[in-house]
Amino acid sequence: MTRNAPDNARESVTVRVPAKVNVQLAVGGRRPDGFHDLANVFLAVGLHDEVTVTPADTLTLTCTGPDADQVPLDESNLAARAALALAARHGREANVHLHIAKDIPVAGGMAGGSADAAAALLACDTLWGTGTSRDELLTLCAELGSDVPFSLVGGAALGRGRGELLEPLAVGGTFHWVFAVADGGLSTPAVYKECDRLRDASGRGATTADIPDPEPSPALLDALRTGDATALAAALENDLQAAALSLRPSLAATLAAGTDAGALAALVSGSGPTTAFLVSDAEAAERVAAALRASGTCRTARATAGPAPGATVVTGG
Ligand code: C5P
Repeated sequence: MTRNAPDNARESVTVRVPAKVNVQLAVGGRRPDGFHDLANVFLAVGLHDEVTVTPADTLTLTCTGPDADQVPLDESNLAARAALALAARHGREANVHLHIAKDIPVAGGMAGGSADAAAALLACDTLWGTGTSRDELLTLCAELGSDVPFSLVGGAALGRGRGELLEPLAVGGTFHWVFAVADGGLSTPAVYKECDRLRDASGRGATTADIPDPEPSPALLDALRTGDATALAAALENDLQAAALSLRPSLAATLAAGTDAGALAALVSGSGPTTAFLVSDAEAAERVAAALRASGTCRTARATAGPAPGATVVTGG
């Protein structure tokens, strides 16, 4: 497979899909299946990937964008697995070329791989005219990964279970964010494992018998509902942050650089290593992003806002 864009797209469908930040990631104990029960409050934000599907003889994959060299182009790519899963569901061949125009940081804790999977499902369903119901698409999403259903839905939602059981949340305003992109990724399983290790080391234990059931924070849900950035800043919470910092201690300097520059609050995005900074408005976002870029504590910084809509067909629908 090559990294070039398709050059003779006769008939194609393009889906645009957002990144996410977890404004609350409450992690319960390790379950017998190895996953962790979550109270996971997702907010979709305006960094996007675009997935274009074009009829082809066999399943092929290309990727462009600043991090394209870090994206696997074989069937381990979640977008390719999504196309295969949808094809199997409808008893047909997954004979498409998938092209990912990647702008979401790779392995960064912003659900970029999950976003591509949700986009590929919607794009293939549209291209093939397979008319899969929303519920079925969500089931396929959940089979592909815990964060994939949210990428389809977007906006804001509470994820229970391992994060796949979604309840949409009302958001009363626009929240402005800066994301500091680190060099290199962090493996999500490794961060959960480190979270368990730290819990064990503290003497608490790490299983569902040791850790109380994770619950969403009423103050945080209220802050989302009313669009109150100051209240949201006070309620942001990520139980994976200590584990991400333990594996990547340099993130502490990035968090400090953003708060020193005037962010209302800073936290690790999901399993990291991207760090997220909530700011008061678009102007503050540009200022904090510039300060982070100048700080030398991250590879780059991006200003954006949320909530953003979920996966959407932008051409060919
Ligand atoms: O569901 P997904 O494939 O995104 O999960 C990747 C890994 O992250 C899992 O294999 C597991 O190690 C960890 N995980 C977890 N609990 C969750 C979600 C993910 O332990 N709720």
